[in-house]
Amino acid sequence: MSHIVVTGGAGFIGSHCCVELLQAGAQVTVLDNFCNSKPEALHHIAKITGICPALAQLDLCDESAVSSFFAANSVDAVIHFAGLKAVGESCRIPLTYYHNNLTGTLHLLRAMAENGCKTIVFSSSATVYGMHNTAPFTEDMPTSATNPYGWTKQMIEQILMDTAAADPDWAIVALRYFNPIGAHPSGLIGENPNGIPNNLVPYVARVAEGTLERLSIYGDDYDTPDGTGVRDYIHVVDLAKGHLCALEYAKTHHGFEAINLGTGNGASVLEVLHAYEQACGKSLPYVIAPRHAGDIATSFADPQKAKSLLHWQAESDLLTMCKDSWNFTLQQHP
Ligand code: NAD
Ligand code: UD1
Repeated sequence: MSHIVVTGGAGFIGSHCCVELLQAGAQVTVLDNFCNSKPEALHHIAKITGICPALAQLDLCDESAVSSFFAANSVDAVIHFAGLKAVGESCRIPLTYYHNNLTGTLHLLRAMAENGCKTIVFSSSATVYGMHNTAPFTEDMPTSATNPYGWTKQMIEQILMDTAAADPDWAIVALRYFNPIGAHPSGLIGENPNGIPNNLVPYVARVAEGTLERLSIYGDDYDTPDGTGVRDYIHVVDLAKGHLCALEYAKTHHGFEAINLGTGNGASVLEVLHAYEQACGKSLPYVIAPRHAGDIATSFADPQKAKSLLHWQAESDLLTMCKDSWNFTLQQHP
């Protein structure tokens, strides 16, 4: 049985990945400081799988804690989700973002190397495709960033590429996620941000439950079929499964690969809203608001590389994603 360390394993995507790993028979240790999650996530994982993952509560920025952990544990591979992820916040407190995401990753990589663990799957983002590429995005397109959060993803990809180039023992996969939404079908784990959500689906979920009045649609004059922004929404369970395929791939392929995890299909803001209306059985009020600075019209993946290298493809459709999000939302207020 392989021992997989999941940094950020109590978070939204990490918790779903822990479920898939445990169900596949892996030994899992969550390494998290709970700065954006709660220890209860581990109980929910245990409820779903019947197994509670081990916990190492530590901050990746604490170098000696990270180094002691890897010295004391035999680890086969790491899936590295831990990081700060709010774009707007990253513009307000950039140094916190650079410190947490970059320093944390450097400590992790050094501790892994020192202890002979050289397989890592990293959470990158479609944000690295920037403002100037045309969808569908392929992995060979030039990457860039428009905000500190995006720069941390771009810089970490560079660090990983250089690490793999310097030492052929490393097997590194950077997964570029498109827009993960939905929740585990059990309704026990999902995305429940503090305060007013920034991202579309968590915001729509609050409108559906009645805690927010209406959705503001950021622009209806884009060059898209209905004028609203188009994104590639992917079910978080499909996304989680992609990580297991990436680990499998890394067993036999050394070096660095960046791979998109998306469905390859775009959905507009209005299409998402209508799918959510169908999922919750209510009509959801909205207004058209000005465009949001930094938003692009259309983003969706070319998912071919994941299909051919990882033998993975997304399965859930938009309605299923919205139904699972709504099921989770309802269970937050029993
Ligand atoms: P999340 O905030 O729910 O999970 C991140 C977890 O990392 C949290 O449990 C947090 O407590 C932990 N963490 C953060 N800094 C840490 C540190 N220094 N030490 C230990 N633990 C730390 O986020 P998520 O949505 O699950 O995203 C996971 C990863 O995927 C992130 O790296 C994010 O940037 C990336 N990503 C997310 C999305 C998305 O839309 N959710 C899209 C693209 C990429
Ligand atoms: C977000 C992240 C980006 C990340 C990407 C994939 C932000 C600002 N950006 O962008 O870094 O790479 O997810 O995970 O968080 N919308 C509205 N009203 C709202 C909220 C959103 O109309 O209240 C629209 C947006 O303009 C966009 C779509 O909904 O067209 C999706 O927005 P969002 O969920 O924030 O995702 P991204 O814009 O793709």
